[in-house]
Amino acid sequence: MAFQITKAVIPAAGLGTRFLPATKAMPKEMLPVVDKPAIQYVVEEAVAAGLHDVLMITGRNKNALENHFDRMTELEATLEEKGDVDRLKKVEYSNDLADMHYVRQGDPRGLGHAVLRAHMHVGREPFAVLLGDDLIDERDVLLSRMISEQAARNASVIALLEVEPEAAHLYGIATVEATETEDIVRITDLVEKPVNGTAPSNLAIIGRYVLQPEVFDVLERTQPGKGGEIQLTDALQVMASENIAGGVYGVVFRGRRYDTGDRLDYIKAIVQLAVERHDLGPELRPWLKQFASSLD
Ligand code: UTP
Repeated sequence: MAFQITKAVIPAAGLGTRFLPATKAMPKEMLPVVDKPAIQYVVEEAVAAGLHDVLMITGRNKNALENHFDRMTELEATLEEKGDVDRLKKVEYSNDLADMHYVRQGDPRGLGHAVLRAHMHVGREPFAVLLGDDLIDERDVLLSRMISEQAARNASVIALLEVEPEAAHLYGIATVEATETEDIVRITDLVEKPVNGTAPSNLAIIGRYVLQPEVFDVLERTQPGKGGEIQLTDALQVMASENIAGGVYGVVFRGRRYDTGDRLDYIKAIVQLAVERHDLGPELRPWLKQFASSLD
């Protein structure tokens, strides 16, 4: 019988330099997307896919992350006194969302290094990795499909997105072979942030992975790569090319994804999500149209 995955690892120890000075004393994962911090969307996504055990990899200045998923007794008492039930519910919602665990990365030596910090907690089980600054729209299925592919193929599975060729140098890029299933591909090669114009395809790795535990063994011997960081992509490249623990498959995602670690994408995400909200959309939409026409 296939192993039931229960653990999600969320690396959130990066420096967030693209968002300075906002991220000088605050993690970028706490930046609000409409009225929730980005990280809450990611934890909600893990829980919705049945992953209730969440390990967050944090670093310096990351106390706000732990506080957000804990009780705020003074605030709760004040809202209760005021009878502000709606806001009280919003505040309490994240307290018991998941069984939260935290480990610090120490120096941010790369995503691969951050994932390696999860070894003790995860043990020898397949597990999911969700990047704390990558949002997948809750109306579009991705993680649960990846989890079932992992179980069916007994292999590692990563999420891929078709990107414009000009954007390929910002991502890990995959070389793939088709499988019998639409939008499921077998990865034959991976390269982290290829030099402009040299990308082997337009299939970019985005921040969702369901991995075999053997990735820890490979990460242990992965040397620093691009940017002097230990790259998860480099470890997955070894697993794919040497067919370790079933190799690596990709799920091509065709839904909505927002990169909240990038300033422009962050602004777009807020506008897109706010426009669709029942409480904000009706007023925002006409204002936005008027504003857009004033730009001409
Ligand atoms: P990014 O490269 O997007 O994050 O890493 P960053 O380094 O924080 O951002 P910039 O480029 O300086 O603005 C992708 C994910 O991996 C985590 C980040 O927190 C982010 O969720 N990460 C990265 C770590 O946890 N540790 C690291 O050493 C590096």
